[in-house]
Amino acid sequence: MLAEDCLHFNGNETPCCIHPLGQLIAATPEKCNQKCKYYEGYQNCQRCPDLVKSRSQVVWGAGNHTTDIIFVGESPGRLGADKTGVPFKGDNSGKIFEKLLEHLGLKRSQTYITNLVKCCPEKGRAPAPGEIKNCVSWLHQELRNIRPRIIVTVGATATAHFMPISHLGTWVYKPVGISQGRIIVPIYHPAYVSRNGWDLTTYFRVIKQAIEKARKWKR
Ligand code: URA
Repeated sequence: MLAEDCLHFNGNETPCCIHPLGQLIAATPEKCNQKCKYYEGYQNCQRCPDLVKSRSQVVWGAGNHTTDIIFVGESPGRLGADKTGVPFKGDNSGKIFEKLLEHLGLKRSQTYITNLVKCCPEKGRAPAPGEIKNCVSWLHQELRNIRPRIIVTVGATATAHFMPISHLGTWVYKPVGISQGRIIVPIYHPAYVSRNGWDLTTYFRVIKQAIEKARKWKR
């Protein structure tokens, strides 16, 4: 496996591979194929019995560990991330998401993309509150490690984890400051946009504007 294929490769040439749980696992890209001692821990996570049955694999976040902007989706898509092992990759949502990144001038290796829940629930259902509760320490671990300034929450479920929302429409595209100088930028989920047949150009444009606004906020 090449360093670039490693889910935990941080996009730089050297040194590479800071594992999501904070451990430097390889000093050079050539050694990046070594499995970290934490890998088995989350790949075999048994916290949610239903998700253990429904998932093909645990899908960890992927991308750059020194980025100031990350994206947090809901849970791996059945036809995408659950198969590919990479958040927002391989399904229709992933295609829209990748176009969004392009519009924002971001490569996957320049940002970090993860999900609130790391396993795909059955039959396209949303993760249950208990499953979110069980899983969220993994996300908090990623946040502690990366310390992003901007967290783009993709969809209502991810947004509701960071702030009390009853309806995403009230908050969407409006950057909100939370603790530790972090800024949340809530956006609609690509699957929702696609289901409603919304114009993607407008969707991309308003997200770009919201992120630009968040970037201008004083520290
Ligand atoms: N794929 C993901 O990784 N997350 C989502 O929320 C949807 C599809």
